Amino acid sequence: MWLLLVLCGSLTVCSAVDRNNFKTCDQSGFCKRHRDMATGASPYVVLLDQLTLDHSKATVPLMNKVTKVQLKLEIWSLKNNMARMRVTEMEPIKQRYEPPVGDVLIGEPAQDSLEKLQLDGAKAVFGFGSNKLRIQAEPFLIEVSTDDVPVMSINHRGLFKFEHYRLKNEGKAEEEAEEGNEEGNGEEGKAEEENKEQPEEEEEEPGMWEETFKTHTDRKPHGPSSVGFDIAFPGFEFVYGIPEHADSVALKSTANTEPYRLFNLDVFEYELNNPMALYGSIPVMLAHNEERTVGMFFLNAAEMWVDIHSNKADKSTFSKLMEFVHGDQDIPQVDTHWIAESGVIDVFLMMGPTAKDVFQQYSSLTGSTPLPPLFSLAYHQCRWNYNDEKDVAQIDENFDAHDMPMDVIWLDIEHTDGKRYFTWDSVKFPHPAEMIANISAKGRKMVTIIDPHIKRDTNYHIHQEAQAQSLYVRDRDGNEYDGWCWPGSSSYLDFLDPKVREFWASKYQPDQYEGSTHDLFTWNDMNEPSVFNGPEITMHKDAKHYGGWEHRDIHNIYGMYQQRATVEGQLRRDPQQRPFVLTRAFFAGTQRYGAVWTGDNTAEWGHLKMSIPMLLSLNLVGITFSGADVGGFFKNPDAELMTRWYQAGAYQPFFRAHAHIETKRREPWLLPDENRDVIRDSLRARYRLLPYWYTLFHAAEAGGSPAMRPLWVEFPKDKSTFGTEDQYLVGPGLLVHPVTDAGATGVSVYLPGTDDVWYDMDTSQRFHGAQTVYVAVKLNKARSRFLIPVFRRGGCIIPQRDRIRRSSSLTYHDPFTLVVALDKHNSAKGDLYSDDYNSFKYQAGAYIHRQFTFEHNKLTSKNLNPAGSFSTPAWIEKIIVIGVKSSPKAVYASVEGTGQSSLEFKYDDTTQMLIIRKPGMGVNKDFDITLS
Ligand code: GLC
Repeated sequence: MWLLLVLCGSLTVCSAVDRNNFKTCDQSGFCKRHRDMATGASPYVVLLDQLTLDHSKATVPLMNKVTKVQLKLEIWSLKNNMARMRVTEMEPIKQRYEPPVGDVLIGEPAQDSLEKLQLDGAKAVFGFGSNKLRIQAEPFLIEVSTDDVPVMSINHRGLFKFEHYRLKNEGKAEEEAEEGNEEGNGEEGKAEEENKEQPEEEEEEPGMWEETFKTHTDRKPHGPSSVGFDIAFPGFEFVYGIPEHADSVALKSTANTEPYRLFNLDVFEYELNNPMALYGSIPVMLAHNEERTVGMFFLNAAEMWVDIHSNKADKSTFSKLMEFVHGDQDIPQVDTHWIAESGVIDVFLMMGPTAKDVFQQYSSLTGSTPLPPLFSLAYHQCRWNYNDEKDVAQIDENFDAHDMPMDVIWLDIEHTDGKRYFTWDSVKFPHPAEMIANISAKGRKMVTIIDPHIKRDTNYHIHQEAQAQSLYVRDRDGNEYDGWCWPGSSSYLDFLDPKVREFWASKYQPDQYEGSTHDLFTWNDMNEPSVFNGPEITMHKDAKHYGGWEHRDIHNIYGMYQQRATVEGQLRRDPQQRPFVLTRAFFAGTQRYGAVWTGDNTAEWGHLKMSIPMLLSLNLVGITFSGADVGGFFKNPDAELMTRWYQAGAYQPFFRAHAHIETKRREPWLLPDENRDVIRDSLRARYRLLPYWYTLFHAAEAGGSPAMRPLWVEFPKDKSTFGTEDQYLVGPGLLVHPVTDAGATGVSVYLPGTDDVWYDMDTSQRFHGAQTVYVAVKLNKARSRFLIPVFRRGGCIIPQRDRIRRSSSLTYHDPFTLVVALDKHNSAKGDLYSDDYNSFKYQAGAYIHRQFTFEHNKLTSKNLNPAGSFSTPAWIEKIIVIGVKSSPKAVYASVEGTGQSSLEFKYDDTTQMLIIRKPGMGVNKDFDITLS
């Protein structure tokens, strides 16, 4: 409690997470064993004389000098400027879990040539691309450099540790010897000291074969199995990624705190600014400096802890050498220490050199976000719960009555018959198919929640079938795992089993899921999995899954398999229609299956503020389709917070309002007029920019680049942006600074780029980059603007649709407006991607992709998909050019197939804005528009 008080400052600003429910590193045996290791304690030596090499791969034994147990170290050179390091046991008595290829990795990564540059008993040097990888035999060390600049260094702190599987009594003597070795080297500051002759008396640690946390005992029948290693990023001060944590986007040093924990957990009322685990885990880290970006991915689905030290003092010999060479006395370095409970060490080194290269590299390994159906990028209205069909109808009508666009109405757990998923409460929702048809008549969709826990009710068909076909996770004694969740006593489908996924997928057929229609989509929640009476509110680690794996091996990947099976179900229901599934738990690869949200946040300003770094962290590691509950899930937001949250959410990738069952109703029209009007503006701003969002999601699918990105991704040399998390970019062209303080009357916005110009989204006022501007943001009627600082980047052309309708599907054929924001050189470029917004035909070329370029007073539209088979009646109704210094005398259009014509235009001197009205050409035509 004392700790809680110190950390929170005051209880009034501190949420009520019960920390006692969750382990600290000290309470987790394997974490403690690794974290307690002293620098240099790792007793491994590489037996380089036994190295074998083929075209792309080196294999060599790695031996524990104390126990003599041998590991197998494999190094690959991979296509796309990557390398892979894998360490497994040479002669295991038990296999270790590795996610099957195709489940996290989309396939076997393509290999490249690994060139042997040097090999002797002491070291081996390999070349891959313009990089070198040097293996030092003793102490074991791997250093990676590009053009001889060091970039990563594995085991330079000597924390590599691999607990081989052993028989219960075998290990004791070995462990004593090994621990003794570690301890003997372990006094701080004496890392290099050789004093093996004074091992500390340490018993085999009690947690190795059994561990008790609160009332739960983990039997650990296979004993200790953890793996860990350190990796340093010399030359880097900033690292990012490893979500999910309610913490800053630039990762902090954990020297005086807990490590960042990656263990999918349902944390009630999570706290801000700490490294506690949350609902999902992506073991991917990026390091960035002014010169380059690199990344690493530790493919391991077990519980994981990551320590981070920004370590200017404790540098490796390697970087000291570089200092000597370059004469630089102050090279920064981030040291990280990765600890996983089981599985293997399988690490992908993504060598960049730009952030966009790393995004592409990571997506070549684990896939990207497939283009979502347009409705899912629009606005979603959710609440726990919309009570009945009448309630749903009123929500639907009220959006229309208040002239607010909305695409999806969501139903939470109360819509079911007693928390039995795939059913409906027959009193409140007697005519579900009709209800869905009523909203889909307006182009809207519905989402229902389907959780992975199944009520243990012998009259419930899903439970009956799951029992009959043996589809449940088993407890350690082989019985159906029985835990407590929303329905009470529940069992959990074992989504690791292809047979279970097949079963689950079959349940989305309209004849199976009665009352469902093709306009019904899915929300998978509680899939960490959440077990109310389980250890740390989740499943026992000694529970058993398909293939004989323990839950400890696969915990972080469980939720992803559920979402995947749901996607398969929707695809089976309608192979022509793109699926939409929202998940709470996630892992590396989840981006392939849909959207993620940040779980149960709170209606407090701090949570609104924190949504930005949380979403940026997700976006950096593949999960671009992500959002936070708009308004905050717990508690009641006041009108101002609600309004500010909508303004922010409108510029975040997944845009859904949601609220806890005990909160007051807060649909936008219930707010005072002034707030309601601002919210309407925010919704309309979202819909206006849907063509841009959609184009960005097309790019995300193609190259893995996220829609929402930190400033440094676009301005990699501007160090002042490396920690920025109160503003961000949507694609390359919009800078957004949400207002996240109560009563704010203005905010300071940093506009990056010494060569850039920026335009206020509403006033079109022009600003030079590399300055901080103050923007008034007061909520009041006098200002008709959005009241949230959004800036257009000069040099970008952004497509939009100005006709706002009830839902996005009613706009499919509507005309576009192009907004051309000129840079310093009076030029700009951008693109527009468009298709049928719903099917897979785009994969066969049925789409339009136009590239727009403005140069030398001429706007050109070029076809990027000349073989494309998609036709659309959509045309260009307006072109706005911002930053035009003086009025043209005339504007001419030359359109493919129709010759030249003169166009109507209006020029405004004060705003330097040129509006070309009704140019009128089809959006799929090549054209030039010349200002003369
Ligand atoms: C979980 C979800 C929340 C949902 C609730 C009831 O707390 O995170 O969004 O409303 O369960 O299903």
